[in-house]
Amino acid sequence: MDEKIQEKVAMSMPRIGDPAPAFKAVTTQGEINFPADYKGNWVILFSHPADFTPVCTSEFMTFATMEKKFNEANCKLVGLSVDGLYSHIAWLRTIKEKIEYKGMKNVEVTFPLIEDITMEVANKYGMIQPGEATTKAVRAVFYIDPKGIIRTIIYYPLSLGRNFDELYRVLIGLQAADEFGVAMPADWRPGDDVIVPTAGSCGTAKERMESKGEMTCHDWFFCTKKLDEDKVWKAVLKK
Ligand code: BEZ
Repeated sequence: MDEKIQEKVAMSMPRIGDPAPAFKAVTTQGEINFPADYKGNWVILFSHPADFTPVCTSEFMTFATMEKKFNEANCKLVGLSVDGLYSHIAWLRTIKEKIEYKGMKNVEVTFPLIEDITMEVANKYGMIQPGEATTKAVRAVFYIDPKGIIRTIIYYPLSLGRNFDELYRVLIGLQAADEFGVAMPADWRPGDDVIVPTAGSCGTAKERMESKGEMTCHDWFFCTKKLDEDKVWKAVLKK
């Protein structure tokens, strides 16, 4: 690709910490005004390359089957591809009526699927990545928080289906990090120890290394503490 075009594409890609670009769109559940309609909820906005394709079908069946879990964590799902509305409707009907896969059958996709024939939304979100495909969106996943800020972006290529346990783990990790003012170490899962913000002064660093309190300090800049699994689920599921 021409270097200038490549630069322009890269510049138009939203980044973590940016407000989610706004758009109005037609979906399989009616019109949406994004992200305004979702204020107060987490949203996962995700794209897929094309309707009536096998990897995407396996992903939609998995996401639809897990939707309740995401909703219980105050998160709505919104899908997108550059196909039209009638293609979306026909594909979702086929999934419900005909496809049986890994024990999933009769799967009804009730979250909205955006039609984006003009690629307006896909371009705004950097979902078209020309080195991978010029006429299809890659498998992008945007986590948008209740204030409309992009908090995580994950991209997968056309040939690799997403890991939905990881997509759920990220949602729980983001919410728990916000709620408890901590960071999560590699492979964190609810119940695992969490990372305490790094000491911001020599005094705090010394105190941490010398104290026998609730923290375990591997070094002055790397301290962890317990965060009970119950507390995490209580905060995330508001129970
Ligand atoms: C699929 O979902 O199976 C797929 C879509 C586009 C390109 C390759 C695979």
